[in-house]
Amino acid sequence: YQPVKIAPSILSADLMALKEEVDLITAAGADFIHVDVMDGHFVPNLTMGIPVVKQLAPYAKIPLDVHLMIANPDKQVPWFIEAGADSITVHAEAVSVPHLAKALEEIRMAGVKSAASIKPGTDVEELAPVLHLVDMVLVMSVEPGFSGQSYIAGSEGKVAAVAQMCEALGLSPLIQVDGGIGLKTAPLVAAAGADVLVCGNAVFKAEDPAAAIRDIRAVADE
Ligand code: DX5
Ligand code: ZN
Repeated sequence: YQPVKIAPSILSADLMALKEEVDLITAAGADFIHVDVMDGHFVPNLTMGIPVVKQLAPYAKIPLDVHLMIANPDKQVPWFIEAGADSITVHAEAVSVPHLAKALEEIRMAGVKSAASIKPGTDVEELAPVLHLVDMVLVMSVEPGFSGQSYIAGSEGKVAAVAQMCEALGLSPLIQVDGGIGLKTAPLVAAAGADVLVCGNAVFKAEDPAAAIRDIRAVADE
């Protein structure tokens, strides 16, 4: 049995004090720094990209988990590898299966952890052809694009379906959940088999982010 891992998303952090925010979550025992990369095409919002990853990488003491919500991610994967990402997540909806497979292979070949993600409307079966190429699966529990949205009810069913599919295929990637995860929803997804919880607002908009990390972990591990 493994305790859940917490990946605070810096999209919800105070960007004017990013260094302090990173120090704070690191000291509080966060497992990853989740970096939400959006391009205004794959999703409507535009956030941060390679320059941010490049500056964070040498500073960060915990792994940088880069979530690519961009069109044509395969073109940019080498740049994010070069920039110092520790794990890179590519969306199944963003590329064709061969391109997705190629991108995941390229990530792994570089010694970086690979992950594939599905949006709420995408069937878990879409992951089957690339499941052997991933270190992590990311199940979106909100429509990607913005932090602070409400968890889509029933998303834990998708987590369970992914867990089941992995078991059936004899594979054991980490299962990550992203979107609207906090004290109420963490126990649901953890019980369904989630290993990594992405938390944006629930951590950074909390009065005490360090306590929020500890509390979310505690309720998820109950
Ligand atoms: C949504 C992003 C999430 C989001 C998480 O597109 O991928 O990482 O910022 O924020 P919360 O936890 O506030 O939903
Ligand atoms: Zn994310």
